Amino acid sequence: MERIVISGTGVFTPEESITNKELVEAYNKYAENYNLTNKNKIEHGEKVALELSNEEFIFNASGIKNRYVMDKKGILDPEIMHPILEKRSNDQPSILAEMSIKAARKALDKAGKNPKDVDAVITACSNLERAYPAISIEVQELLGIKGFAFDMNVACSSATFAIQAAADMIRSGSAKTILIVDPEICSGHLDFKDRDCHFIFGDVCTAMILERKDLSQSNNCFEILSTKCITQFSNNIRNNFGFLNNAKKSSPLDRDLLFMQQGRKVFKEVVPMVSQLIIDHLSDEKIKTNEIKRLWLHQANKSMNDFIGKKVLGRVPENHEQPNILQDYANTSSAGSIIAFSLFSDDMSNDDIGVLCSFGAGYSAGSVILKKLS
Ligand code: COA
Repeated sequence: MERIVISGTGVFTPEESITNKELVEAYNKYAENYNLTNKNKIEHGEKVALELSNEEFIFNASGIKNRYVMDKKGILDPEIMHPILEKRSNDQPSILAEMSIKAARKALDKAGKNPKDVDAVITACSNLERAYPAISIEVQELLGIKGFAFDMNVACSSATFAIQAAADMIRSGSAKTILIVDPEICSGHLDFKDRDCHFIFGDVCTAMILERKDLSQSNNCFEILSTKCITQFSNNIRNNFGFLNNAKKSSPLDRDLLFMQQGRKVFKEVVPMVSQLIIDHLSDEKIKTNEIKRLWLHQANKSMNDFIGKKVLGRVPENHEQPNILQDYANTSSAGSIIAFSLFSDDMSNDDIGVLCSFGAGYSAGSVILKKLS
């Protein structure tokens, strides 16, 4: 069977960032203004007063301290509470394509490849900026890549599902070298006026080069030993934004057109599902857990990762065995596990094995077993 490697990764990190302190100050100002404006209605039981957010809760419940964002000013303005991004003409690159090419150039550099070596592009992310033309085809055009390109969305699992799709395509011969980009402007789908979730997400873009091992010139390659993806329907993470919103007479401000979740239920249901996926996957491949040198897990919640790491390894993982980037980046949907992989893999020795795993809405979960090559 054809051997496939990830030969380069890249991360584009936005320039602006928001600490929990800044975020809570903005939310609390918004909540106080809301309670003051609606004082009479609240007193007459017609509206419910908003409770205040706090930094300690956010860090203790999630492990998040900071998030990078594409626009800080709009998010932190209590009168606005969402990012403000410039409207661009159709002749200008879209924002997702622009961040994608920044991450892609880094991944190409690491892999020692030129755009002309690439023959397919997959944009895999939770939120696509438009229905069509595909962001991937725009990325292809901007980088000067021949071949074909398409977009796909499996929410937070988009990147691992894309790795499986790309590896299968390379194995079957439909492409030789594939660029995967995961542009995530999660601040655009987040309701910063909702105390239960206003702290969860951040923005970023990751990129990967996948290719046939015999074509690779990189000295920091990971062979894809195996992939395993699963899905199981759940309404506990949901976003009803879509092309029928107009036909269904939704208002753009309807709450269900942004990210919504039952966080507690997600936590309880997804932890066993993901632990079992990784355990089954390793068992399928006859790899023992004591052979696993690293777990690059989806970055949604530190305690979730602690539970999964402990269940998979059968003991509490050392920090270096299960690196988290959540404290700096927050949840960046499909990109989270790829950031962890990109930032914490250079130090691994030849033949070291690690598992890259993402999970999220759907539910969906993808596991990728990787081996470091020289
Ligand atoms: N500040 C202060 N208190 C807050 C708060 C905030 N920002 N947000 C919620 N609270 C309160 C709640 O109202 C609740 O109060 P109550 O006990 O009086 O009812 C209490 O804190 C606990 O809230 P809960 O939502 O149950 O917290 P939690 O411990 O479950 O943590 C999440 C919330 C979202 C961090 C956590 O459930 C989680 O990460 N789940 C997994 C989510 C996930 O992986 N999603 C995938 C997304 S892609």
